[in-house]
Amino acid sequence: KPLVFSGVQPTGNLHLGNYLGAIQRFVALQDSHDCLYCVVDMHAITVWQDPADLKRQIREVTAAFIASGIDPTKHIVFNQSQVSGHAELAWVFNCVARLGWLNRMTQFKEKAGKDREAASVGLYAYPSLMAADILLYRATHVPVGEDQKQHLELTRDIAQKFNNDFGTSIAANGLGEAFFPLPEPLIGGPAARVMSLRDGAKKMSKSDPSDLSRINLTDEADLIASKIRKAKTDPEPLPSEAEGLKGRPEAENLVGIYAALGAVPKEDVLTQFGGGQFSTFKAALVDLAVAKLGPIGAEMQRLVAEPDHIDAILRDGAARARVLAEATMANVRDIVGFVR
Ligand code: TYM
Repeated sequence: KPLVFSGVQPTGNLHLGNYLGAIQRFVALQDSHDCLYCVVDMHAITVWQDPADLKRQIREVTAAFIASGIDPTKHIVFNQSQVSGHAELAWVFNCVARLGWLNRMTQFKEKAGKDREAASVGLYAYPSLMAADILLYRATHVPVGEDQKQHLELTRDIAQKFNNDFGTSIAANGLGEAFFPLPEPLIGGPAARVMSLRDGAKKMSKSDPSDLSRINLTDEADLIASKIRKAKTDPEPLPSEAEGLKGRPEAENLVGIYAALGAVPKEDVLTQFGGGQFSTFKAALVDLAVAKLGPIGAEMQRLVAEPDHIDAILRDGAARARVLAEATMANVRDIVGFVR
């Protein structure tokens, strides 16, 4: 049975990339799939987080999920640290994954920077925990942005190696041939990689020092408008066909954002705005972005003002997640050979 899992880090500044690449797609999957959406607070602490900020940010991501339309009564919304199976399975996966595999992870190299010796061990082992998040529920589909592709490939490698290494034990425990599914990444659409508004070669990111580089989900209408107006473009008018966006990363990015926000193909956006000036297109993009994000930001503010309500949602989600997690972990303990 198909099962969707995805996670978002509570590290501040949720932005349009997180929304279009991930959260908006989480919402769309709800009608057709059972879904677990997780605030991955244990991933967040792989780099230093002030404890009070972390609490606020966990609630803020939860609020973003709900304000965007995720229904926590039909699906499971929770924070990772409340379900201990994530940490337990991650340890087993640390013993399945190879150093060579983790050494190839580009996100670690980026985040650790030059002084790799000073990075936390957790940052290095981050992908094992991510594999555990997904496989703890034996999830089959994982909606993510393009930047998570390599981590998903590693997750599949870990699942496959576990299935192979323990094949005999899996069969001896009556659990069939392969215990873990090889989860499929769901990456795609016009906003799988939303770029910085200041530089079409950099992805939009929570940690970019320039706030003008991103649209935050909590930005007010006039701030959204001014950021879009200031977004970098080139002097040419928009092309009428997608071909013409090649080599024009800033134009391509804004057209992709419009397409994803409006749920229309890029081609349609170009049919409508091709040949015209950027200023006309940007004005339309401002209207669309404000219409779409304004209500989400407002609802987020309303929800975070009621932390008790949010905490109750997370507790309830965690209780339901724990039941699923425990079933997997009982099998994993048997497969690995732990006595219980
Ligand atoms: P995180 O918290 O960095 O980002 C959350 C989601 O937003 C997507 N995203 C983007 N999509 C398009 N354009 C962008 N500029 C952009 N920036 C971010 C990310 O791809 C992601 O889908 N490691 C994950 C969190 C995680 C996870 C998991 C995801 C932990 N465990 C299990 C899936 C399954 C991360 O750091 O996402």
